Amino acid sequence: MLSLEEIKKHSGVVYSIKKTEEYLNYLGYTDHGPRHLNLVSDRAKSLAKNIGLDEREQQLAAIAGYCHDMGNFLQRTGHPYTGAMLFSQFFLSSSRSSQETKDILEVMQAIANHDEHENEVVNKIGAILVLADKSDVHRNRVKNKTPENLKEDIHDRVNYSVIESAFKVNKAKKEIILKLKIDTKVTGVMEYFEIFNNRMVFCRKAAEFLGYNFVLTINNFKLS
Ligand SMILES: [Fe+2]
Ligand SMILES: [Fe+2]
Repeated sequence: MLSLEEIKKHSGVVYSIKKTEEYLNYLGYTDHGPRHLNLVSDRAKSLAKNIGLDEREQQLAAIAGYCHDMGNFLQRTGHPYTGAMLFSQFFLSSSRSSQETKDILEVMQAIANHDEHENEVVNKIGAILVLADKSDVHRNRVKNKTPENLKEDIHDRVNYSVIESAFKVNKAKKEIILKLKIDTKVTGVMEYFEIFNNRMVFCRKAAEFLGYNFVLTINNFKLS
């Protein structure tokens, strides 16, 4: 069975993530390095566990979360595809069983479809990845916190405005909940939706694929 521990040690994964972080820092993007990847991986694994998936699927969710952005160093716009192809190159030829091959293909499919512009939910692991990735909005993701940059860059400004972020599952009510606290002195809720509307719609679609409702709470105002 594929394990996150083993995947994290692969030199192709290690250096793709390192090169991605260097490249996106250079372009001035929010964090796509180890903080983001470990958070998405942990969040994906616990979401899989909380909705009742088995140990194998929890590992696949954790792996997809950790590897989903590693194609960025090749090309920003096509990174879901390049990431999926890198994953296959690193692991497919050394697959130890037909089950492992199927698992690798499932992770590839999830990575290839995590972009909100495509807006396609392809499998359970993909749905979990979308929710874990798109819910990572937080002040800690912003690299350049200078007032000049925050004034100019709407992505940085919106991320910087989020001072608390909690991601939970209510299995009894069938709800996947993202609870945010926004500092409205930094940005208004409207600006949040100006850039995150597509991502939130994608989260709703992903939650529905899993048989759940997506609930977004901003400053105690519930949107579902
Ligand atoms: Fe991505
Ligand atoms: Fe990401």
